[in-house]
Amino acid sequence: MQKELWNARRALVEEALLRELKKEPPVDQTLSDAMEYSLMAGGKRLRPILLMAAADAVGADGAKFVTTGCAIEMIHTYSLIHDDLPAMDNDDYRRGKLTNHKVYGAGMATLAGDALLTLAFEVMLRQPDATEATRLAVVREMSRAAGMNGMVGGQAIDLESEGKKIPMERLREMHMGKTGALFRAAVRSGAILAGATDQQLAALTKYADAFGLAFQITDDILDVVGDEATIGKPVGSDERNNKSTYVTLLSLEKAQALAKETVEDAVSALASFGPEADFLRGLVQMLIERKK
Ligand code: IPE
Ligand code: IPE
Ligand code: MG
Ligand code: MG
Ligand code: MG
Repeated sequence: MQKELWNARRALVEEALLRELKKEPPVDQTLSDAMEYSLMAGGKRLRPILLMAAADAVGADGAKFVTTGCAIEMIHTYSLIHDDLPAMDNDDYRRGKLTNHKVYGAGMATLAGDALLTLAFEVMLRQPDATEATRLAVVREMSRAAGMNGMVGGQAIDLESEGKKIPMERLREMHMGKTGALFRAAVRSGAILAGATDQQLAALTKYADAFGLAFQITDDILDVVGDEATIGKPVGSDERNNKSTYVTLLSLEKAQALAKETVEDAVSALASFGPEADFLRGLVQMLIERKK
């Protein structure tokens, strides 16, 4: 059941992404191709799936909000294109394919990222079945999450922490920014679109924060012990770039234990929800078992 819902939602996202990208004829075909190349390269589509699952948990039909799900996937994909650039992590593979800059060059890859980020805001303002006030509330969530004190802020801490031993508290702040912020925005946006109460929103925010943190700790672990063909990106990237990660600052074993603990926090945050939150609970299982 869980797997079926996952597959159905994923298919919905794939189809809607292409539709939203191709709504208007592009003024530059290469730019459009570069955007499509990374956007449609696969990927788990976890953020849109979480967004829809959070709406389900509040009693709505999450599928209605796939448009906003596409918007967050565009922001996420832009962050990956820029993260892989030579001036950042300098990686050659992503989602099992050559990175954007390897195919289109660093200039066009930068622009493809920029255009995906801005397109995301157009797309979330097209969300049907939402009032103008709700759409604006979502724009507020997404813009904060993507920016200076969210994902980009976390990426800045990441860059500045290369080759240094940073305190654990700073590492946590980095993870909550570079990865946690978009997970938080995904879950909160789904809940807001579905008309969540303040109490529901607070509980779901706790869930999202634990989910995001556990997700990035696992990403750090997979960078060491993962299988390149399965994860679709290079292993050992963090070591090559002298990154500060949970594995380097703690140890593999301690990072694994912390990921497990954090996963439990995510499940506990859903205690006040009934079976409507079962899909959200199921997604946590994916965190524990994930190999990619
Ligand atoms: C990778 O995210 C980057 C991080 C924030 C850790 P995902 O692991 O969700 O990547 P895709 O979307 O499946 O490619
Ligand atoms: C970057 O973290 C997360 C973002 C893109 C914001 P990483 O640099 O660890 O992500 P991967 O491992 O390249 O996917
Ligand atoms: Mg990085
Ligand atoms: Mg990287
Ligand atoms: Mg990584």
